[in-house]
Amino acid sequence: MKKANIILDRDYQIGRIDKRLFGSFIEHLGRAVYGGIYEPDHPLADELGFRTDVIKAVRDLCVPLVRYPGGNFVSGFNWEDSVGPRESRPKRLDLAWFTTETNEVGLHEFAQWAEKVNSEIMYAVNLGTRGPQEARDIVEYANHPGNSRFSDMRIANGRKDPFGIRLWCLGNEMDGPWQMGQKTAYEYGRIANESAKMMKWVDPSIEVVACGSSSSEMPTFGDWELTMLNECYENIDYVSLHRYYANPTGDTAGFLARTMDMDDFIRSVVSICDAVKGKKHSKKQINLSFDEWNVWYHSRQQDEEIWKREKWNRALPLLEDVYNFEDALLAGSMLITLMRNADRVRIACLAQLVNVIAPIMTRSQGGCWAQTIYYPFMHASRYGRGTALQAIVDSPAYDCSDYENVPILDAIATLGDDGSLTLFAVNRDLTEPCCVSLDLRAFGDLRMTEHIVLHHDDVHAVNTEENPNEVVPASCPLTQPDGGRADILLPALSWNVIRFA
Ligand code: AHR
Repeated sequence: MKKANIILDRDYQIGRIDKRLFGSFIEHLGRAVYGGIYEPDHPLADELGFRTDVIKAVRDLCVPLVRYPGGNFVSGFNWEDSVGPRESRPKRLDLAWFTTETNEVGLHEFAQWAEKVNSEIMYAVNLGTRGPQEARDIVEYANHPGNSRFSDMRIANGRKDPFGIRLWCLGNEMDGPWQMGQKTAYEYGRIANESAKMMKWVDPSIEVVACGSSSSEMPTFGDWELTMLNECYENIDYVSLHRYYANPTGDTAGFLARTMDMDDFIRSVVSICDAVKGKKHSKKQINLSFDEWNVWYHSRQQDEEIWKREKWNRALPLLEDVYNFEDALLAGSMLITLMRNADRVRIACLAQLVNVIAPIMTRSQGGCWAQTIYYPFMHASRYGRGTALQAIVDSPAYDCSDYENVPILDAIATLGDDGSLTLFAVNRDLTEPCCVSLDLRAFGDLRMTEHIVLHHDDVHAVNTEENPNEVVPASCPLTQPDGGRADILLPALSWNVIRFA
């Protein structure tokens, strides 16, 4: 058995956790919208055509923010297509995903759905094939009270009160050659600046996110951020980060160490933001929006085959990764990484939410079930609210393909506003449990109320419609602290949520 020490103290504060750290993402892609959240002829559809089983699964997951409508999709999207009478909305070829977008669901319908699942919308504007004018128009449509062309159009379309969308993405992954309207960093920085300015002139209460690099692996990563921020620093509020991990070779130890890369990525972007701040003698701090993160690789081959067979169909079953147990462990570690950086990462979106690289799956005309990654997200979103506390971890470490000295324990604690304390920890050790000596002396009397563990003997175990409970959390026996210390056993390869009152 491995042994480790963790010290927690209410004074080791990282910062307040913004609830928007537990956001997710619905793109007009694959079966996320059509056949996912929206399936009017499903037996469980509500009066608006939304699946009530999916609504329940999203509510239980606790998702305060949903990014919409893309993704790559947004870079060719005309927002005007998605509003007004449904029968006159155009069908468009979507060049991002080679499908046909019918626009049956648009801003009004999505806002109704978001309300049902208790989420705010983070709306992305098209800065690929369009520009600042269309960006300010949609802000006017969504947020202006009335008596102007676009706000009156919204009212005529049946929505008197503004949607009040507070958070806006200035395009998506504009550095990527796969993006419609790809730009150089300078071109993008200029357009982002002018769009942000005009959007905020329409509604000064909004916040905007500028596109950082689409991954830290882009050859232009770093330079892109520097050049782009140099053009738009004073008018934007956040820089986006996107990162997906994969384990194509079956190297679990290396895969679980990928959050070392995520931490480096975050620290690099923070340094660049602060360097530009210094250079500009600015008083303003730019924070981070990690608005796409997940594991993504299981479905790539399948997608190529789908496109060979049936390009341009509606709602192609794209990006339908089936997540296994080790993916849930990495998702847990990614959540820990986000909370550990909560002082600068204020917004994050698990990409995505339903059917498309998603925690929630559905079958058309069939059931709805939770994938393995559903559980760490649900725990983090439910209990990771309040203040993030640095966990001082002293644990054995291992070397793997890309990293040396990877601690077997990845941990973070949160202090809830009700005084409750939650420790989130992943034991990355492949074979041995870890006995953690937890020092809680700084908190006085604490009582352990729950120890939830997610573990499976097979890292490849998955949940399916037929067998939805193969990988599900279980409760462990409680170990009450004695003199402010508790020895807690974390199984080999496990996600743990340990709660104290
Ligand atoms: O989330 C799937 C896709 O990944 C998004 O559309 C894009 O932004 C990213 O490349």
